[in-house]
Parts: sequence; C-alpha cells; structure tokens
Amino acid sequence: MSDEQNGLVLKDVYRVFPGDVTAVADVNLHVENGEYVVFLGPSGCGKTTTLRMIGGHDDPSSGTITIDGELMNGVSPAERPITTVFQHYALFPHKSVLQNVAFGLKMQGVDKAERETQAKAAIDLVGLTKMMDRKPRELSGGQQQRVALARVLVTRPKAILLDEPLGDLDRLLQMKMRVELRALQRELGITFIHVTHNQEEALSMADRIVVMGDAVIQQVGTPEELARHPRNEFVAKFMGDNNVFHGTISGTNGGNVVIDTPHGKIEVKGTGTAGQPGSMSIRANAVQVSTDAVPDVNGVKVRLDFAEYLGDSVKLHLDLAGQPFLAKVPEERYTEIRAYEGKDVTATWAIEDGHLLEQ
Ligand SMILES: Nc1ncnc2c1ncn2[C@@H]1O[C@H](COP(=O)(O)OP(=O)(O)OP(=O)(O)O)[C@@H](O)[C@H]1O
Ligand SMILES: [Mg+2]
Repeated sequence: MSDEQNGLVLKDVYRVFPGDVTAVADVNLHVENGEYVVFLGPSGCGKTTTLRMIGGHDDPSSGTITIDGELMNGVSPAERPITTVFQHYALFPHKSVLQNVAFGLKMQGVDKAERETQAKAAIDLVGLTKMMDRKPRELSGGQQQRVALARVLVTRPKAILLDEPLGDLDRLLQMKMRVELRALQRELGITFIHVTHNQEEALSMADRIVVMGDAVIQQVGTPEELARHPRNEFVAKFMGDNNVFHGTISGTNGGNVVIDTPHGKIEVKGTGTAGQPGSMSIRANAVQVSTDAVPDVNGVKVRLDFAEYLGDSVKLHLDLAGQPFLAKVPEERYTEIRAYEGKDVTATWAIEDGHLLEQ
C-alpha cells in the first residue's frame, strides 16, 4: 500500500451547486492518520462544503475522496469511519449526559450494559464523569461541547470532523477548549479535522493548516510555514500582521530580486525577471522602527498613528502614504515609542525577513 493510500485523500475535488455556484474547486489534499488539520478561511470560501463531503453529508460533483485507500464517494455518513461534530451540536435536552452519549450506540443495537460501559469511558475522556447525570441545560457551553465530543468519541471513529467547534464559546472558554481539544486529540491519536475562520485558533491548534480562499486551497503548511512563508498575497493578508508591497522587478542582485515600488526599492530573496510584476510581504514583527534616515533599500518613512499596548509587545499602527502599515516591537519600548505618536518615523527590515510572493 502506498503512503498516498493511508489516511484521508481528496483528489481533484469539486463541488458545484445548481446555479453554477462553485463552492469548492480543484482540492487536492492528503491528511495523514493522527494529524490535527485545520481548515482556515474567510466566510463562504468552501470550508463547510469540504467538511460535509469528507463526512458524507454531501458528495463531490467530481473528484474522489478515499479513507485508507477505500473510496468514500456515495458512502453514507453512518458507514464512513469518520464522524462530524456540527457547529450547533444538538444534544437531547431531556436526556442526561450519559444517555446523550450512549444514544448513538443504542441506535447501533449495542446492549445496555455495554452501552453504559463505553459511554462512561468516553465521558471520562472528556472529563465529565462527575456530571454524567446532569441534563445539558445544567452544563456550561464548554461542558456541552465536551458532551457533543464524547457522543462522537464513543463510536470510535478513525477521524473526527469539527465545524467551528469553538465558535459559540466566550473567549476565555475558547482558549481553554483549544488546549483541551488538542490534548484530547494527542491522547486519542486519531485524526481531527477542524474548521475555523479564526487565524489564532488555527495557528495554536493545527499540525497543518489548509488555508482556503475563493473555493480553492491557497496554501497548506505548518503554522510556522504559513506565518513565515505565505505563498501569495491572499495568505499573507489573511494570516494577519503582514505588510504587502507591489511593484515591478527592476533586476537581480546575487540571490535577491529588486522590486521598484511606489514606496522605494525593495530587495528580497528569490528570483524574477526584470520588467515583470513583483510582490513581497514583510511580517510586522520583523519591522524595525527608528528615527534614523530612510535607507535607499528596504526602508520607508511612515507616520505613527497609534501605539497599541498588547502586554508582551506593542503593535504600531503606521501610515504609509495613506496605506496602513504594521510593526510590532518589544513591550519595553512602549513609553519611548508612544512619544512619537503623530510623528514620522523610519521603518526598515532585513532582506532575509522579506518574502517574495507568487503573482
Ligand atoms: N446547498 C447550497 N446551495 C448553493 N450554494 C451553496 C450551498 N451550500 C453552500 N453554498 C455556497 O457555497 C459557498 C461555500 O459555502 P460554505 O458553507 O462551504 O462556506 P464556509 O467557508 O463554510 O463559510 P462560513 O465561514 O461562513 O461558514 C458559499 O458561497 C455558499 O453560499
Ligand atoms: Mg461554514
């Protein structure tokens, strides 16, 4: 069996809805067994549609989905070795936690004693043993979320699909559940595929992130790869805190290309052809801010609009000839830098920190 056959494989997957709405296009993806993969992208980019096709709640218009080499197209959700936890997980309000979790097994015809044993084990995994006899309304949002998870775990799927699982929770609970979900996934060793539009959530939880935009996969990579090496402008902008410059390539210099932009010359690692358009991105935390003179290359004059104190760093909201520009500096510089609010400063960055983008 080739590597490609293990885990979940989406090959040339499209989903076109009536009225010629292409919700998902040209999706090719291989998720290894045991990976925590997060689908990240703005509203309407095709995340839920992709998850529904993986879970069997919808089928591709073309292309194939396989799990451990077995073709899943046309296979019902119940027959797939994979279970979905929907955004609005409907728990039975009049049933206890234990009954809610055991319900799926009842449907499968498992006898009562066995149901209880398995349900209790799943409830224990999500840390709700003490609350087994409560009704859903007697639980917090996060606890209800865990019941929904236990209900899925009890069926022992190879993979769990979660659509915006933390969307309805308050921020503090979200942070807590991120850690809990991740720990649970590690403990179980099964594949989790999690959909969100929250960058921070994706970065903090995923082994790999699949960035979707306009129905297609824009980039797949580890959180670090995406943060440091966004492939294109969409990813650079969506991952946040990246500044993007556009211009025309004027030549090369060693292993660098020189891009002429309306804001000056920028040198960045990579190759290109003179006369062609060139774009690059630079992360806010790689930008240095000073009162030095603006250098000939890789530097711009900006006005400091606002220094935002973030506790461990200071985010500088800068104005580059009418465009927003971001820098992040260590927290220790807050007092010194605040004094420049409303004034011009110089932003510079090292060649190695810039990143050439695909056109
Ligand atoms: N049953 C359907 N019929 C027609 N169009 C649909 C259908 N379901 C989804 N769409 C369209 O497909 C596109 C992708 O929808 P999808 O629900 O996958 O987005 P999403 O990335 O999950 O967005 P969100 O973050 O808002 O949940 C949207 O333009 C949506 O309007
Ligand atoms: Mg959705």
